[in-house]
Amino acid sequence: MLKPGVLHRRIAGEILNRFERKGLKIIALKMLRMDRAVVETHYAEHTGKNFYQELVDYTCSGPVAAMILEGKEAVSTVRRLIGPTNVHDSQPGTIRGDFAASTTLNIVHASDSKPSAEREIALFFKPDDICDWDDGNKGWF
Ligand code: CMP
Repeated sequence: MLKPGVLHRRIAGEILNRFERKGLKIIALKMLRMDRAVVETHYAEHTGKNFYQELVDYTCSGPVAAMILEGKEAVSTVRRLIGPTNVHDSQPGTIRGDFAASTTLNIVHASDSKPSAEREIALFFKPDDICDWDDGNKGWF
C-alpha cells in the first residue's frame, strides 16, 4: 500500500517502477480513501502503541494506492525492496531508505507474511478486482 505521502509527493510512479523493474506482476491496483474503521482493522495489532494515533491519522489523511503484487517469494521480495520499518535502518536504494524520513510516516506498507497478505487483500479487494493475467513469463524475471 502506498500511503498518502506518496500521492502527495507525486512519487507513485517512481515507487511502482521499483516493483515492476524487479519483475513483480501487478494483478490488482486501486486508489481509495481509507475509512478510519478500516485503518483501525488494518493496524489492529498496533492499537495502544505510542505511534498508533499518528499512524491512523496519517493513513486517513489522503488517498492511498493499494495493490497486489505477484511473484516468486513476493512477500520477502517486496519487503527487501521497501527496507526495514525503522527508517534509520533502511539503506539507500530501498524505498524507505530513499524516500522516508519518519518511521511512523514511512510511506509504504507491505504484508509481512502470506497469511497477513491474504487478510489484507480481503480488506481492500473483492475477487472481481483481481486481474490474474498471464504474461507468458518464461522466467526472465
Ligand atoms: P507499516 O508497514 O505500515 O506497518 C505498521 C506501521 O506502524 C509501520 O509501517 C510504521 O508506519 C508504524 N510503526 C511501526 N513501528 C513503529 C515504531 N517503532 N515507531 C513509530 N512507528 C512505527
